Amino acid sequence: MKKVLVTGGIGYIGSHTVIELINAGFHPVIMDNLYNSKIDVLFRLEKICGKKLTFYEIDLREKEKTNEMFLKEHFDAVIHFAGLKAVGESVEKPLLYFDNNVHGTIKLLEVMEENQCKSIIFSSSATVYGDLNPVPFQEDMPTGVTNPYGRTKLMIEEMLEDMYAADENWRIVLLRYFNPVGAHESGFIGEDPRDIPQNLMPYIAKVASGELKELSIFGDDYNTPDGTAIRDYIHVVDLAKAHVKALGVALKEESFFEKINVGSSNGYSVMDMVKAFEKANDLTVDYQITPRRAGDIPEMRADIEKAKVILKWQPEKSLEDMCKDIWRWESRSRT
Ligand code: NAD
Ligand code: UFG
Repeated sequence: MKKVLVTGGIGYIGSHTVIELINAGFHPVIMDNLYNSKIDVLFRLEKICGKKLTFYEIDLREKEKTNEMFLKEHFDAVIHFAGLKAVGESVEKPLLYFDNNVHGTIKLLEVMEENQCKSIIFSSSATVYGDLNPVPFQEDMPTGVTNPYGRTKLMIEEMLEDMYAADENWRIVLLRYFNPVGAHESGFIGEDPRDIPQNLMPYIAKVASGELKELSIFGDDYNTPDGTAIRDYIHVVDLAKAHVKALGVALKEESFFEKINVGSSNGYSVMDMVKAFEKANDLTVDYQITPRRAGDIPEMRADIEKAKVILKWQPEKSLEDMCKDIWRWESRSRT
Protein backbone atom coordinates (compact mmCIF):
# COMPACT_ATOMS: atom_id res chain seq x y z
CA MET A 1 0.00 0.00 0.00
CA LYS A 2 1.49 3.36 -1.07
CA LYS A 3 1.98 5.82 1.78
CA VAL A 4 1.12 9.42 0.96
CA LEU A 5 1.84 12.54 3.01
CA VAL A 6 -1.08 15.00 2.83
CA THR A 7 0.14 18.45 3.88
CA GLY A 8 -2.77 20.67 4.91
CA GLY A 9 -4.85 17.51 5.27
CA ILE A 10 -7.08 18.96 7.99
CA GLY A 11 -8.15 21.78 5.65
CA TYR A 12 -11.10 21.92 3.28
CA ILE A 13 -9.79 20.20 0.14
CA GLY A 14 -7.15 18.10 1.94
CA SER A 15 -9.67 16.49 4.30
CA HIS A 16 -11.92 15.41 1.41
CA THR A 17 -8.87 14.03 -0.40
CA VAL A 18 -7.87 11.93 2.63
CA ILE A 19 -11.20 10.09 2.33
CA GLU A 20 -10.78 9.47 -1.40
CA LEU A 21 -7.22 8.25 -0.90
CA ILE A 22 -8.45 5.69 1.62
CA ASN A 23 -11.29 4.66 -0.71
CA ALA A 24 -8.72 4.08 -3.47
CA GLY A 25 -6.43 1.93 -1.30
CA PHE A 26 -3.72 4.47 -0.40
CA HIS A 27 -2.40 5.05 3.13
CA PRO A 28 -2.62 8.78 3.89
CA VAL A 29 -0.67 10.46 6.70
CA ILE A 30 -1.76 14.00 7.58
CA MET A 31 0.43 16.96 8.46
CA ASP A 32 -1.05 20.37 9.34
CA ASN A 33 -0.18 23.27 11.64
CA LEU A 34 -3.91 23.94 12.27
CA TYR A 35 -3.47 27.61 11.34
CA ASN A 36 -6.68 27.59 9.31
CA SER A 37 -8.38 24.42 10.53
CA LYS A 38 -9.54 22.65 13.66
CA ILE A 39 -8.40 19.30 15.07
CA ASP A 40 -12.05 18.31 15.30
CA VAL A 41 -11.87 17.57 11.55
CA LEU A 42 -9.44 14.71 12.27
CA PHE A 43 -12.01 13.03 14.50
CA ARG A 44 -14.74 13.59 11.93
CA LEU A 45 -12.51 12.02 9.26
CA GLU A 46 -11.90 9.02 11.52
CA LYS A 47 -15.64 8.66 11.95
CA ILE A 48 -16.25 8.73 8.18
CA CYS A 49 -13.38 6.31 7.44
CA GLY A 50 -14.01 4.05 10.44
CA LYS A 51 -10.34 3.96 11.48
CA LYS A 52 -7.60 5.88 13.30
CA LEU A 53 -5.51 8.19 11.13
CA THR A 54 -1.92 9.28 11.64
CA PHE A 55 -1.59 13.03 12.21
CA TYR A 56 1.46 15.26 12.74
CA GLU A 57 0.98 18.83 13.95
CA ILE A 58 3.93 20.40 12.13
CA ASP A 59 4.45 23.68 10.31
CA LEU A 60 5.92 23.26 6.82
CA ARG A 61 8.74 25.62 7.74
CA GLU A 62 9.92 23.41 10.63
CA LYS A 63 12.34 21.44 8.51
CA GLU A 64 13.81 19.26 11.27
CA LYS A 65 10.41 18.06 12.44
CA THR A 66 9.33 17.38 8.85
CA ASN A 67 12.52 15.42 8.27
CA GLU A 68 11.97 13.32 11.40
CA MET A 69 8.50 12.48 10.12
CA PHE A 70 9.89 11.47 6.71
CA LEU A 71 12.56 9.25 8.34
CA LYS A 72 9.87 7.52 10.36
CA GLU A 73 7.14 7.17 7.72
CA HIS A 74 9.01 6.52 4.40
CA PHE A 75 6.50 8.23 2.10
CA ASP A 76 6.00 7.22 -1.53
CA ALA A 77 4.51 10.59 -2.48
CA VAL A 78 3.23 13.93 -1.20
CA ILE A 79 0.01 15.80 -1.93
CA HIS A 80 0.79 19.37 -0.99
CA PHE A 81 -2.24 21.43 0.06
CA ALA A 82 -0.73 23.37 2.98
CA GLY A 83 -0.77 27.07 2.27
CA LEU A 84 -2.55 30.33 2.94
CA LYS A 85 -5.24 31.24 0.42
CA ALA A 86 -6.95 34.56 1.23
CA VAL A 87 -6.36 36.96 -1.66
CA GLY A 88 -7.22 40.13 0.34
CA GLU A 89 -4.99 39.15 3.27
CA SER A 90 -2.14 38.45 0.86
CA VAL A 91 -2.34 42.03 -0.43
CA GLU A 92 -2.10 43.35 3.14
CA LYS A 93 0.55 40.87 4.36
CA PRO A 94 2.59 39.77 1.34
CA LEU A 95 5.57 38.61 3.40
CA LEU A 96 3.37 36.26 5.40
CA TYR A 97 2.28 34.65 2.13
CA PHE A 98 5.76 34.41 0.61
CA ASP A 99 7.12 32.98 3.87
CA ASN A 100 4.35 30.47 4.47
CA ASN A 101 3.66 29.35 0.90
CA VAL A 102 6.97 29.72 -0.93
CA HIS A 103 9.50 29.30 1.89
CA GLY A 104 7.35 26.52 3.39
CA THR A 105 7.29 24.67 0.07
CA ILE A 106 11.07 25.04 -0.36
CA LYS A 107 11.63 23.40 3.05
CA LEU A 108 9.23 20.58 2.13
CA LEU A 109 10.95 19.99 -1.22
CA GLU A 110 14.39 19.93 0.44
CA VAL A 111 13.22 17.25 2.83
CA MET A 112 11.61 15.29 -0.01
CA GLU A 113 14.83 15.40 -2.04
CA GLU A 114 16.98 14.39 0.95
CA ASN A 115 14.68 11.42 1.56
CA GLN A 116 14.49 10.38 -2.11
CA CYS A 117 10.74 11.01 -2.20
CA LYS A 118 10.29 12.66 -5.59
CA SER A 119 6.57 12.51 -6.33
CA ILE A 120 4.37 15.50 -5.60
CA ILE A 121 0.88 16.72 -6.49
CA PHE A 122 0.67 20.48 -5.91
CA SER A 123 -2.43 22.64 -5.28
CA SER A 124 -2.23 25.42 -7.80
CA SER A 125 -5.01 27.74 -8.87
CA ALA A 126 -6.79 29.16 -11.89
CA THR A 127 -5.62 32.49 -10.52
CA VAL A 128 -2.33 31.93 -12.42
CA TYR A 129 -4.18 32.71 -15.68
CA GLY A 130 -4.72 36.27 -14.43
CA ASP A 131 -6.90 38.55 -16.50
CA LEU A 132 -5.06 38.02 -19.78
CA ASN A 133 -6.76 35.09 -21.43
CA PRO A 134 -10.01 34.30 -23.23
CA VAL A 135 -12.18 31.53 -21.75
CA PRO A 136 -11.97 28.59 -21.58
CA PHE A 137 -8.49 28.62 -20.04
CA GLN A 138 -6.05 26.06 -21.42
CA GLU A 139 -2.91 24.97 -19.63
CA ASP A 140 -0.51 26.33 -22.25
CA MET A 141 -1.92 29.87 -22.12
CA PRO A 142 0.30 32.62 -20.73
CA THR A 143 0.28 33.17 -16.98
CA GLY A 144 0.06 36.48 -15.19
CA VAL A 145 -0.97 37.13 -11.62
CA THR A 146 -2.66 40.10 -10.00
CA ASN A 147 -2.00 39.63 -6.26
CA PRO A 148 0.63 38.18 -3.87
CA TYR A 149 -1.36 34.98 -3.23
CA GLY A 150 -1.43 34.26 -6.97
CA ARG A 151 2.25 35.10 -7.21
CA THR A 152 3.09 32.47 -4.55
CA LYS A 153 1.22 29.85 -6.60
CA LEU A 154 2.99 30.84 -9.81
CA MET A 155 6.39 30.98 -8.09
CA ILE A 156 5.91 27.46 -6.73
CA GLU A 157 4.77 26.21 -10.16
CA GLU A 158 7.91 27.70 -11.74
CA MET A 159 10.13 26.32 -8.98
CA LEU A 160 8.74 22.83 -9.54
CA GLU A 161 9.22 23.14 -13.29
CA ASP A 162 12.87 24.16 -12.75
CA MET A 163 13.41 21.24 -10.38
CA TYR A 164 12.05 18.86 -12.98
CA ALA A 165 14.33 20.37 -15.64
CA ALA A 166 17.29 19.77 -13.32
CA ASP A 167 16.32 16.23 -12.31
CA GLU A 168 13.88 14.21 -14.41
CA ASN A 169 13.50 11.60 -11.69
CA TRP A 170 10.77 13.81 -10.26
CA ARG A 171 7.10 13.12 -10.86
CA ILE A 172 5.21 16.39 -10.54
CA VAL A 173 1.58 17.30 -11.18
CA LEU A 174 0.40 20.90 -10.86
CA LEU A 175 -3.37 20.87 -10.46
CA ARG A 176 -4.96 24.23 -11.23
CA TYR A 177 -8.24 24.34 -9.33
CA PHE A 178 -11.10 26.53 -10.45
CA ASN A 179 -13.79 27.22 -7.79
CA PRO A 180 -14.08 24.35 -5.30
CA VAL A 181 -17.46 24.19 -3.54
CA GLY A 182 -19.66 21.63 -1.77
CA ALA A 183 -19.01 19.24 1.07
CA HIS A 184 -18.81 15.52 1.81
CA GLU A 185 -22.23 13.92 1.43
CA SER A 186 -22.09 12.66 5.03
CA GLY A 187 -22.39 16.28 6.19
CA PHE A 188 -19.50 15.68 8.65
CA ILE A 189 -16.86 17.74 6.84
CA GLY A 190 -17.02 20.82 4.63
CA GLU A 191 -15.62 24.31 4.29
CA ASP A 192 -15.28 25.99 7.67
CA PRO A 193 -13.89 29.52 7.23
CA ARG A 194 -12.20 31.14 10.25
CA ASP A 195 -13.97 34.47 9.75
CA ILE A 196 -16.86 35.80 7.66
CA PRO A 197 -16.60 33.92 4.35
CA GLN A 198 -15.10 35.77 1.41
CA ASN A 199 -16.19 33.17 -1.14
CA LEU A 200 -19.62 33.08 -2.70
CA MET A 201 -21.07 29.69 -1.75
CA PRO A 202 -20.16 29.63 1.96
CA TYR A 203 -21.53 33.17 2.16
CA ILE A 204 -24.82 32.11 0.54
CA ALA A 205 -25.11 29.23 3.02
CA LYS A 206 -24.70 31.59 5.97
CA VAL A 207 -27.35 33.95 4.59
CA ALA A 208 -29.71 31.01 4.15
CA SER A 209 -29.11 29.92 7.75
CA GLY A 210 -29.80 33.43 9.04
CA GLU A 211 -26.25 33.87 10.38
CA LEU A 212 -25.61 36.64 7.85
CA LYS A 213 -28.24 39.14 6.78
CA GLU A 214 -27.94 39.27 3.01
CA LEU A 215 -25.60 38.46 0.17
CA SER A 216 -23.93 41.31 -1.68
CA ILE A 217 -23.72 40.45 -5.37
CA PHE A 218 -20.58 42.21 -6.53
CA GLY A 219 -21.63 43.82 -9.80
CA ASP A 220 -24.44 43.21 -12.28
CA ASP A 221 -22.90 45.22 -15.10
CA TYR A 222 -20.45 42.66 -16.49
CA ASN A 223 -20.67 41.69 -20.13
CA THR A 224 -22.39 38.37 -19.32
CA PRO A 225 -25.96 37.21 -20.04
CA ASP A 226 -27.36 38.37 -16.67
CA GLY A 227 -24.62 40.92 -15.88
CA THR A 228 -23.14 38.98 -12.93
CA ALA A 229 -19.70 37.33 -13.07
CA ILE A 230 -19.22 33.77 -14.28
CA ARG A 231 -17.11 31.07 -12.60
CA ASP A 232 -16.42 27.36 -13.00
CA TYR A 233 -17.56 25.63 -9.80
CA ILE A 234 -16.24 22.16 -9.05
CA HIS A 235 -17.53 19.86 -6.31
CA VAL A 236 -14.82 19.27 -3.70
CA VAL A 237 -15.33 15.49 -3.85
CA ASP A 238 -14.74 15.49 -7.62
CA LEU A 239 -11.66 17.64 -7.01
CA ALA A 240 -10.44 15.21 -4.35
CA LYS A 241 -10.84 12.32 -6.81
CA ALA A 242 -8.76 14.20 -9.39
CA HIS A 243 -5.85 14.12 -6.89
CA VAL A 244 -6.15 10.37 -6.51
CA LYS A 245 -6.15 9.94 -10.30
CA ALA A 246 -3.16 12.26 -10.66
CA LEU A 247 -1.26 10.28 -8.05
CA GLY A 248 -2.07 6.97 -9.72
CA VAL A 249 -0.97 8.22 -13.15
CA ALA A 250 2.24 9.88 -11.92
CA LEU A 251 3.33 6.91 -9.80
CA LYS A 252 3.16 4.61 -12.84
CA GLU A 253 5.82 6.69 -14.63
CA GLU A 254 9.57 7.01 -14.08
CA SER A 255 9.43 10.71 -14.87
CA PHE A 256 6.41 13.00 -15.06
CA PHE A 257 5.54 16.69 -15.25
CA GLU A 258 2.09 18.07 -16.12
CA LYS A 259 -0.01 21.17 -15.43
CA ILE A 260 -3.68 20.21 -15.41
CA ASN A 261 -6.87 22.24 -14.94
CA VAL A 262 -9.47 20.88 -12.53
CA GLY A 263 -12.86 22.44 -13.09
CA SER A 264 -16.20 21.37 -14.48
CA SER A 265 -15.89 23.37 -17.74
CA ASN A 266 -19.37 24.84 -17.03
CA GLY A 267 -19.76 28.53 -16.40
CA TYR A 268 -22.37 29.72 -13.90
CA SER A 269 -23.09 33.33 -12.98
CA VAL A 270 -23.46 34.57 -9.40
CA MET A 271 -27.20 34.85 -10.05
CA ASP A 272 -27.30 31.27 -11.40
CA MET A 273 -25.71 30.09 -8.16
CA VAL A 274 -28.18 31.97 -5.96
CA LYS A 275 -31.11 30.52 -7.92
CA ALA A 276 -29.67 27.00 -7.95
CA PHE A 277 -29.12 27.10 -4.18
CA GLU A 278 -32.67 28.33 -3.57
CA LYS A 279 -34.17 25.66 -5.83
CA ALA A 280 -32.09 22.73 -4.55
CA ASN A 281 -32.88 23.51 -0.92
CA ASP A 282 -36.33 25.06 -1.27
CA LEU A 283 -35.48 28.31 0.51
CA THR A 284 -34.75 31.96 -0.28
CA VAL A 285 -31.48 33.85 -0.17
CA ASP A 286 -31.78 37.61 0.37
CA TYR A 287 -29.40 39.67 -1.72
CA GLN A 288 -28.60 43.17 -2.86
CA ILE A 289 -26.57 44.32 -5.85
CA THR A 290 -23.42 46.23 -4.89
CA PRO A 291 -20.49 47.58 -6.93
CA ARG A 292 -17.92 45.21 -8.44
CA ARG A 293 -15.23 43.79 -6.12
CA ALA A 294 -11.76 45.11 -6.98
CA GLY A 295 -9.67 42.60 -8.92
CA ASP A 296 -12.58 40.37 -10.04
CA ILE A 297 -12.71 39.35 -13.69
CA PRO A 298 -15.95 38.79 -15.66
CA GLU A 299 -15.49 35.13 -16.50
CA MET A 300 -13.33 32.15 -15.56
CA ARG A 301 -13.87 28.73 -17.04
CA ALA A 302 -11.65 25.68 -17.52
CA ASP A 303 -10.88 23.63 -20.56
CA ILE A 304 -10.66 20.14 -18.99
CA GLU A 305 -9.62 18.05 -22.00
CA LYS A 306 -6.19 17.42 -20.49
CA ALA A 307 -7.70 16.08 -17.26
CA LYS A 308 -10.01 13.83 -19.27
CA VAL A 309 -7.25 12.45 -21.46
CA ILE A 310 -4.29 12.24 -19.06
CA LEU A 311 -6.05 11.55 -15.76
CA LYS A 312 -9.09 9.77 -17.20
CA TRP A 313 -11.05 12.01 -14.85
CA GLN A 314 -14.15 14.08 -15.24
CA PRO A 315 -16.58 15.56 -12.74
CA GLU A 316 -19.51 13.41 -11.66
CA LYS A 317 -21.42 15.77 -9.35
CA SER A 318 -24.06 18.23 -10.54
CA LEU A 319 -24.76 21.81 -9.55
CA GLU A 320 -27.70 20.51 -7.52
CA ASP A 321 -25.36 18.13 -5.64
CA MET A 322 -23.06 21.06 -4.83
CA CYS A 323 -25.94 23.14 -3.46
CA LYS A 324 -27.53 20.30 -1.45
CA ASP A 325 -24.22 19.18 0.05
CA ILE A 326 -23.27 22.72 1.13
CA TRP A 327 -26.61 23.12 2.85
CA ARG A 328 -26.44 19.70 4.56
CA TRP A 329 -22.98 20.61 5.89
CA GLU A 330 -24.07 24.09 6.97
CA SER A 331 -27.15 22.69 8.74
CA ARG A 332 -25.25 19.87 10.49
CA SER A 333 -22.28 21.98 11.51
CA ARG A 334 -24.64 24.27 13.41
CA THR A 335 -26.10 21.48 15.55
P1 NAD B 1 -7.58 25.40 3.83
O1 NAD B 1 -7.10 26.65 4.46
O2 NAD B 1 -8.90 24.88 4.25
O3 NAD B 1 -6.51 24.24 4.02
C1 NAD B 1 -5.13 24.49 4.04
C2 NAD B 1 -4.55 23.80 5.27
O4 NAD B 1 -3.13 24.04 5.31
C3 NAD B 1 -5.13 24.35 6.58
O5 NAD B 1 -5.60 23.28 7.38
C4 NAD B 1 -3.96 25.06 7.23
O6 NAD B 1 -4.00 24.99 8.64
C5 NAD B 1 -2.76 24.32 6.64
N1 NAD B 1 -1.53 25.13 6.58
C6 NAD B 1 -1.38 26.37 6.10
N2 NAD B 1 -0.09 26.75 6.22
C7 NAD B 1 0.58 25.70 6.76
C8 NAD B 1 1.94 25.47 7.12
N3 NAD B 1 2.87 26.42 6.98
N4 NAD B 1 2.28 24.27 7.64
C9 NAD B 1 1.35 23.30 7.81
N5 NAD B 1 0.05 23.46 7.50
C10 NAD B 1 -0.33 24.64 6.98
O7 NAD B 1 -7.55 25.64 2.25
P2 NAD B 1 -8.13 24.74 1.06
O8 NAD B 1 -9.28 25.46 0.48
O9 NAD B 1 -8.27 23.34 1.50
O10 NAD B 1 -6.94 24.88 0.01
C11 NAD B 1 -5.92 23.91 -0.07
C12 NAD B 1 -4.90 24.37 -1.09
O11 NAD B 1 -5.56 24.57 -2.35
C13 NAD B 1 -4.22 25.69 -0.75
O12 NAD B 1 -2.86 25.61 -1.12
C14 NAD B 1 -4.94 26.69 -1.63
O13 NAD B 1 -4.12 27.79 -1.96
C15 NAD B 1 -5.26 25.86 -2.86
N6 NAD B 1 -6.42 26.36 -3.62
C16 NAD B 1 -7.62 26.55 -2.99
C17 NAD B 1 -8.70 27.07 -3.68
C18 NAD B 1 -10.02 27.30 -3.00
O14 NAD B 1 -10.84 28.07 -3.54
N7 NAD B 1 -10.31 26.69 -1.84
C19 NAD B 1 -8.58 27.39 -5.06
C20 NAD B 1 -7.34 27.17 -5.68
C21 NAD B 1 -6.27 26.65 -4.94
N1 UFG C 1 -19.16 37.08 -5.06
C1 UFG C 1 -20.24 37.89 -4.75
N2 UFG C 1 -20.51 38.07 -3.43
C2 UFG C 1 -19.77 37.52 -2.41
C3 UFG C 1 -18.69 36.69 -2.76
C4 UFG C 1 -18.40 36.51 -4.10
O1 UFG C 1 -20.92 38.41 -5.62
O2 UFG C 1 -20.08 37.77 -1.24
C5 UFG C 1 -18.87 36.84 -6.49
C6 UFG C 1 -17.48 37.30 -6.89
O3 UFG C 1 -17.51 38.66 -7.26
C7 UFG C 1 -17.17 36.34 -8.05
C8 UFG C 1 -17.93 35.05 -7.69
O4 UFG C 1 -18.90 35.44 -6.72
O5 UFG C 1 -17.70 36.85 -9.22
C9 UFG C 1 -17.03 33.99 -7.08
O6 UFG C 1 -16.29 34.58 -6.02
P1 UFG C 1 -15.41 33.73 -5.00
O7 UFG C 1 -14.82 34.70 -4.02
O8 UFG C 1 -16.20 32.60 -4.44
O9 UFG C 1 -14.29 33.09 -5.93
P2 UFG C 1 -13.23 33.79 -6.87
O10 UFG C 1 -13.50 33.30 -8.26
O11 UFG C 1 -13.17 35.24 -6.69
O12 UFG C 1 -11.84 33.23 -6.31
C10 UFG C 1 -11.59 31.84 -6.10
C11 UFG C 1 -10.65 31.66 -4.93
C12 UFG C 1 -9.31 32.29 -5.22
C13 UFG C 1 -8.76 31.76 -6.50
C14 UFG C 1 -9.77 31.92 -7.62
C15 UFG C 1 -9.30 31.26 -8.88
O13 UFG C 1 -11.21 32.24 -3.77
O14 UFG C 1 -8.41 31.95 -4.18
O15 UFG C 1 -11.01 31.32 -7.25
O16 UFG C 1 -9.01 29.93 -8.63
F1 UFG C 1 -7.63 32.43 -6.82
